[in-house]
Amino acid sequence: MKLCISLDLPSAEENLALVEKIKDYDVWLKVGFRSYIRDGKTFLEDLKAINPSFKIFLDLKLYDIPNTMADAAEEISNFGLVDMFNVHASAGKNAMTTVMNRIKDIPNRPLVLAVTALTSFDNESFKKIYNEDITSKARAFAIDTYESGIDGVVSSAFESLDIKNNTNKSFITLCPGIRPFGEDAGDQKRVADLKFAKENLVDFIVVGRPIYKNENPESIVKRILENI
Ligand code: C5P
Repeated sequence: MKLCISLDLPSAEENLALVEKIKDYDVWLKVGFRSYIRDGKTFLEDLKAINPSFKIFLDLKLYDIPNTMADAAEEISNFGLVDMFNVHASAGKNAMTTVMNRIKDIPNRPLVLAVTALTSFDNESFKKIYNEDITSKARAFAIDTYESGIDGVVSSAFESLDIKNNTNKSFITLCPGIRPFGEDAGDQKRVADLKFAKENLVDFIVVGRPIYKNENPESIVKRILENI
C-alpha cells in the first residue's frame, strides 16, 4: 500500500513548504484542481525539483467527449512529469478506451484511474442521477473501467474489496477519505482507518488534512509509513 498526500493548501508556497518537510519519504503527491489551475505545470516541476523520486498523481478527473479526453490524456502523458491521472468512469467505455488507445505507446505512460462514485454523494442523491444504488453502480463502473484497459479506480475503501473481487486483485484501488488513526473526519462522510484500508486491499490511501493540519507533518507521515 502506498501513501498519497493531497496538496490542498491555499498557496504553492505552503504546499512546497509541506513537501520540503517530507522530502525524504517514499510518497505520492496528489495535485488537484486548485493547485493545478493556479500553479500549472511549473508546480509539477517544482515538486520534482525537491525530490525527483516523488511520484505525482494529477487529480483532474477528466470528463468530456472521447476525443477531447484523449487529447488531454496525451498532453498530460507527454509532460513526462505525471505518474498517474484520472478520468470519470461515467464518461463511458468508449471514452476510456479512446484514452487508453491514444496513450498506450507513449514511453513510461502514466497510470490511469477512473472515478466510480464521488464520495460526496449519499445514496439518495446518487440515485437521482444514476437510478441505481451506489454499491452496485460503483461495481458496474469498475467492471467497465477494467474492460476498457484502465489501470484502476478511485473509490471509497468500503468498495475496494468488492471491486477487486469483481475485476482482478491487481486492479488498482485508490481511496480518499482515510483517517489513518481515527482522526477528525471533517466533511468526509465515509471514512476508514489504516487497518480497514489494509484489510480491504486498498493500493493507495489518499490523506490530506490529517497530514497538512498536523503540527508535525513529518512525524505523522513517518508513523503512517511504519504502519502500512
Ligand atoms: O483532507 P482529506 O484527507 O479529506 O482529503 C481528501 C482528498 O481526496 C481531497 O483532495 C479530496 O478532493 C480528494 N477526494 C475525495 N473524494 C473523492 C475524490 C477525491 O476526498 N471521491
